[in-house]
Amino acid sequence: MMRLSYCSLALLVWLPVILNAQGTPELCSAPTLHNAYLVPKDSYQQHEKIKYACENGYKHAVEGWWAESVCRNGQWSPQPLCIKNAACTPPIITNEKFKEDSKSWYKNGSKKWVTCNAGYSTKNFHATALCDNGNWTNVPVCEKSKDACTEPPQIAYAVIINQEHQEVFPGDSEVTYQCKDDYVTEEGAKNKSIFCISGNWTESPTCIYSPESKDGNTKPAFVPVENCGEFPIVENGLVEKSEPLALRVRCQLYYKLYGPEKVVCYNSNKWSAIPTCKANFCSVNTDDYSDLIPAGVKFMTNGDIIQLECKNLFYFTNYRVVWCKNGKATVSRYFVFSFTAPNIQFNKYRELLFLLL
Ligand SMILES: *[C@@H]1O[C@H](CO)[C@@H](O)[C@H](O)[C@H]1NC(C)=O
Ligand SMILES: *[C@@H]1O[C@H](CO)[C@@H](O)[C@H](O)[C@H]1NC(C)=O
Ligand SMILES: *[C@@H]1O[C@H](CO)[C@@H](O)[C@H](O)[C@H]1NC(C)=O
Ligand SMILES: *[C@@H]1O[C@H](CO)[C@@H](O)[C@H](O)[C@H]1NC(C)=O
Repeated sequence: MMRLSYCSLALLVWLPVILNAQGTPELCSAPTLHNAYLVPKDSYQQHEKIKYACENGYKHAVEGWWAESVCRNGQWSPQPLCIKNAACTPPIITNEKFKEDSKSWYKNGSKKWVTCNAGYSTKNFHATALCDNGNWTNVPVCEKSKDACTEPPQIAYAVIINQEHQEVFPGDSEVTYQCKDDYVTEEGAKNKSIFCISGNWTESPTCIYSPESKDGNTKPAFVPVENCGEFPIVENGLVEKSEPLALRVRCQLYYKLYGPEKVVCYNSNKWSAIPTCKANFCSVNTDDYSDLIPAGVKFMTNGDIIQLECKNLFYFTNYRVVWCKNGKATVSRYFVFSFTAPNIQFNKYRELLFLLL
């Protein structure tokens, strides 16, 4: 037999409190449930379930036409609830900040104010959703804040010790790198913190091999770069003093750095590991192709796709396309009208397109 349930609020509030105080198993009392069909009992055991249905014109605050709640530690989970069909249960918004006291439902025509998780903010400052006849409209979107940072860069020979992995770090976040055994930062320390400022991380550390400075900060591992004498020479690279205790190595155009960017002078007056600059380009001699307009040798970086203009065989300008991959240039067989487009979506597929040429 079904009948409308009702229950004393006092009992609902009192019972769990008393049971908790005595340390006995926590029972649930019958829920206060309006506009619903339920066969109630005086009390329910831990993990006992109730099923209920809502009256016409009402719906559950959970999916489906009948709903189930479980007694957990004296509380019903989820709280049994029948709401008007035109009312709304909270919208699901990715990266919305969870609020302990948020409502379990909203009246038709009411608004919900949305707050985003740290590091996210509402897109276009639009922060309220409207409950319209049972559905939410104008639902705000939580997107990464402009002053938040994506994950900090990965550094060779280092781990991050003070933060869990997360996709977005709020502005002013601090993460600390720790160099692994036998490695130290260019300041000769074990740890270095970087900060998220206006959407960018401050300069990250380099971990340099330094077995003689195992005891960390206590003795200076590095001495002024002048103590090591002549600066090392890096072929196809430029070596400059970037700070009193470090040199910075940069490579020429079309060359790529292998090894640490910074070089320091150990207290033994020896340089730390010196990086190298390796060729990272392709070249095409336009004179080798009779149909190309002669333009000498063209250089391009690995990964680049460029187009070279052909002699006017047709009534429109046409090109051959060149793809530089692993130092080897491949020239397309066919002429194309134009291959470049300033759009990222296109860049994603251009290698695929190239294979068709
Ligand atoms: C819900 O609200 C809208 C506008 O606030 C109103 O037009 C509509 O009649 C309401 N629906 C119900 C079922 O009350
Ligand atoms: C609300 O959404 C449900 C399911 O998506 C749909 O059946 C119903 O027509 C919508 N109501 C309004 C008022 O848009
Ligand atoms: C680096 O940070 C870790 C963790 O906070 C700490 O235990 C350790 O003492 C620090 N090391 C140095 C050399 O500061
Ligand atoms: C953050 O980095 C971007 C891209 O490198 C740069 O355009 C922007 O000016 C930087 N912002 C700040 C505050 O340094």
